[in-house]
Amino acid sequence: MPATLGAVIPVDVRPLAAEDLAHIQQALPPEHPEAHVRRLGDQRAGRVTYLVAWAGGRAVGHALLRWGGPTNPELRSLLGPQERHPYVEALLVHPSLRSRSVGTQILAAAEALVVGRGIRRIGLAVAVDNSRARALYERLGFQDAGIGEFGNAWSYVDEAGNEVAASETCNYLVKDLDQRIESTSILDRRPRQ
Ligand SMILES: CC(C)(COP(=O)(O)OP(=O)(O)OC[C@H]1O[C@@H](n2cnc3c(N)ncnc32)[C@H](O)[C@@H]1OP(=O)(O)O)[C@@H](O)C(=O)NCCC(=O)NCCS
Repeated sequence: MPATLGAVIPVDVRPLAAEDLAHIQQALPPEHPEAHVRRLGDQRAGRVTYLVAWAGGRAVGHALLRWGGPTNPELRSLLGPQERHPYVEALLVHPSLRSRSVGTQILAAAEALVVGRGIRRIGLAVAVDNSRARALYERLGFQDAGIGEFGNAWSYVDEAGNEVAASETCNYLVKDLDQRIESTSILDRRPRQ
């Protein structure tokens, strides 16, 4: 059942800074306790940009932009060596603030960064059963890349402190980006009441 879209919450989306690590760890606890630290390390190495959305001094969402494309070997093989466009993963909005266009603004920020580097395509994976996320991506212009289904694996730490392996079946979506930065930002739109 689709949720009702609430009033837009304007967010400031920027790369995670080291001094914000403790805050984000508490505000958006990751499934794996080391995830934020790893992403910050990858950002320092230039492999990723870890975008965090802020509202009123609070971290409310994030997404990881991988400049070299996905790391999943199965997906890389399906895409082929010619397709090494930036890839978005770990998109998440705090449960209390969903359907307020925060996810849309995070994706818009990722797209603007990609366009800023003169790259024309961005991609992401979506689980076959995540219909709300897929609807959001399609509304924003992402389309199925036509490479079929693949498995995406990750791990999390359960309440007992055990690291647990998990996986999900996904599709790959891509969006070809207009090199003109779109002025139709979500913030220009009138929020629904
Ligand atoms: C998927 C996720 C990141 C979306 O974030 P969000 O902030 O809720 O996204 P938005 O508010 O921008 O868009 C979501 C909804 O608002 C609608 N919406 C937002 N802006 C809109 C606009 N201007 N016009 C019309 N609809 C709009 C979307 O279509 C969508 O509808 P829904 O509420 O029925 O799902 C969030 O739900 C989440 O964190 N989910 C758990 C983790 C996850 O699944 N991540 C994605 C992995 S692929």
